Amino acid sequence: MSARTLGLGLVGLGLAGGVMASAARTHPGIRLAGAADPDPTLRERFAGAEGLPVHPGIERLLAQPDVDAVYVATPHQLHREHTVAAARAGKHVIVEKPMALTVADCDAMIKAAEAAGVVLVVGHTHGFDPAVALIRDLVGSGGYGPLGMIALWNYTDFLYRPRRPEELDSARGGGILYNQIPHQVDIARTVADRPVRSVRATAAILDPDRPTEGACAALIEFEGGGAANLVYSGYDHFDSDELHGWIAEGGGPKTPAHGAARRRLAALTPEQEQRSRTADFGYGARSPLPPPHQPHFGELVVTCAGADLRCSADGVTAYTDRGVEQLAVPRTRWWPGRGNVLQELVDAVVHGRPAQHDGAFGRETVRTCLAIAESARERREVFLSTQEVSIHVPVR
Ligand SMILES: NC(=O)c1ccc[n+]([C@@H]2O[C@H](COP(=O)([O-])OP(=O)(O)OC[C@H]3O[C@@H](n4cnc5c(N)ncnc54)[C@H](O)[C@@H]3O)[C@@H](O)[C@H]2O)c1
Repeated sequence: MSARTLGLGLVGLGLAGGVMASAARTHPGIRLAGAADPDPTLRERFAGAEGLPVHPGIERLLAQPDVDAVYVATPHQLHREHTVAAARAGKHVIVEKPMALTVADCDAMIKAAEAAGVVLVVGHTHGFDPAVALIRDLVGSGGYGPLGMIALWNYTDFLYRPRRPEELDSARGGGILYNQIPHQVDIARTVADRPVRSVRATAAILDPDRPTEGACAALIEFEGGGAANLVYSGYDHFDSDELHGWIAEGGGPKTPAHGAARRRLAALTPEQEQRSRTADFGYGARSPLPPPHQPHFGELVVTCAGADLRCSADGVTAYTDRGVEQLAVPRTRWWPGRGNVLQELVDAVVHGRPAQHDGAFGRETVRTCLAIAESARERREVFLSTQEVSIHVPVR
């Protein structure tokens, strides 16, 4: 570790790795140190733009002495392998959501980090959004009375963005239950700040050409009271950013384009779809500038006895007996959301503050998502407090 910055290596230079590279540049406690990706085009882009070492595999990145921590942004099924390898090499780890595809994999990752004495942070999810943290603090203060319920709605084009084959195969971790629902579960768990008691859910596969779950409705009940209603559809018809002033998930401006992702995809061959995943979504394809507004994950309304609290463009809107109050989220020096992930790492490694989104937190989100899949499949309520949930079998 040099002076007061942590050297960060990026494992995976796809969509997630590319956005995190931009976020890392905004954080005063982080210094990009290198990357690994088997894709030569992405390596070339990274080397050209950053002037830093970039390797085809993780081993040589882990051998770099100036890498203190890695950000694992590889496909879900590689999260365990890469996290364990990094921990064994003595590197701190941020691992993307979902933490892993099974609870056993989460356990192995937690054990590896503990054995090596390294920090493990699970993120990014929208549970790191500053507006979500503000709502959590407002609810936790008790100033608005007890928590009643949390409503989360998101309608996107998720299923029609270019996808790797396994992303369309539920048995291999495809679909929204592993990829998108973890955001909603993390937001709900962050706001409620209490353990999940049970879930009841339905999920649907609505397009035989994209044969994995693309829609889900779930009710999460928390221990000690309060519930969250999660609604998600990734079928590129309604876009809930319309309800958010046409501000996109990341906090940037958005032009309405209903159905455009479907139409674009329909014109691509499978080979072109794969090429587009890298060319149009990987490192270097997105704006490197921080967003002008706060990130969000659709509409979030939290009902307490004394107010409804809604995530807005730049903070939180509180609807109270007195009327409407705007509560702004103070701008940080770093990229909102992803910068908060980096701050959690810096806090833990440099300042010794335990990470909130540690392995145990990430494991519980995986367990909740698996319970959602099980509930949808078996059409019954699944209790998390009393049983381990099974592996994911797609809804048919
Ligand atoms: N938090 C978020 O908002 C967010 C957004 C996007 C993706 N993600 C998560 O990030 C992960 C990656 O998703 P993505 O959309 O960036 O996928 P992607 O396909 O765009 O990128 C994955 C990259 O990993 C690389 N890779 C594959 N095997 C590798 C290996 N052995 N070593 C190093 N790199 C390897 C691939 O070549 C590819 O460039 C997923 O788990 C996803 O859930 C999170």
